[in-house]
Amino acid sequence: MKRVLSGIKPSGEMNIGGYGGALHQFLAMQKEYDCYFFVPDLHAVTVPQDPRLLNRRSKEIAAYYIAAGIDPKQATIFIQSHVAAHAELGWLLETQAHFGELGRMTQFKEKSHGKDTVSSALFTYPVLMAADILLHQATHVPVGDDQKQHLELTRDLAQRFNNRFGTTFAIPEPIIPSIGSRIMGLDDPAKKMSKSNPNRNSYILLEDSPEDIRKKIGRAVTDSEGIVRYDWERKPEISNLIEIYAVVAGESAAAIEQRYRGVGYGPFKQDIADAVIAVLTPIQRRFGEIIASDELLTILRNGAEKAAASASATLRNAKAAMGLLTLD
Ligand code: TYM
Repeated sequence: MKRVLSGIKPSGEMNIGGYGGALHQFLAMQKEYDCYFFVPDLHAVTVPQDPRLLNRRSKEIAAYYIAAGIDPKQATIFIQSHVAAHAELGWLLETQAHFGELGRMTQFKEKSHGKDTVSSALFTYPVLMAADILLHQATHVPVGDDQKQHLELTRDLAQRFNNRFGTTFAIPEPIIPSIGSRIMGLDDPAKKMSKSNPNRNSYILLEDSPEDIRKKIGRAVTDSEGIVRYDWERKPEISNLIEIYAVVAGESAAAIEQRYRGVGYGPFKQDIADAVIAVLTPIQRRFGEIIASDELLTILRNGAEKAAASASATLRNAKAAMGLLTLD
């Protein structure tokens, strides 16, 4: 069976960028594939985190998975640091990764830009990501566009390891949706929508109230043409809004374009806000119930057990292939 693995870092409140590029895709895949959805907390600590907040956010991301509709009976939901094999395989793969190729990772360049010091873990971050994927023999990895380069590295590392030590890992395919994989800031369509933007109006959080959502979409930058057309080259502001609309409403960009022919930006923005609110309101209600229940911890315990079992054979094979002494 095809196996899916993916995750969302608990490094800040979740925004609809992560919904478009990741969570929305997870929902579509869980029926068809054997899915592993995890919370990469070890990735979050590559940049400074407030320990109390990190703890809470890890639970929150898992709760959002379930609130959005991931069924813990179907998919395995777990926290990365609960399965030691992730860090262990990460180390083994670091021996195969080249300093130069890690230095070429655009996310590393962006995140380290202008900083006096960055952790060495920020540098080796993509190798741990490769370990997450390869450890579970994932064949498909649903991600947003910004993770494409990390997936290419994952494939290179898997191939390099297999060539050198014998076939050990499946070669994973990235799944990057044609719509929703690049949701940009509401204030600037040249920048990815991200919770690290100091302008709170640039992103919509999954926890935002209907009033906030209306206000933020109302303030989103547009052009002065008044034409709703999906054209990233010439109309990035409007294309970004269409992208958000298409993801939450489950419609194509073309259908949206058609409906708003001859209609101005005002009603268009109001309808986007309505569609975002319609998707987020039930998620927020279920999130409230899940986060307050004991059931979440039980789900995470069971998930960690299943994930550890899934990981053990691959980790053992990788060690044995490299010539490390095993006792079984
Ligand atoms: P992270 O936590 O930054 O983002 C989680 C997922 O959401 C997607 N995403 C977006 N998609 C569209 N528009 C946006 N504005 C946007 N912002 C985020 C990301 O592409 C991602 O798919 N390194 C990963 C976490 C990770 C992982 C893994 C993912 C660690 N190990 C193994 C897959 C498999 C990350 O930082 O994602």
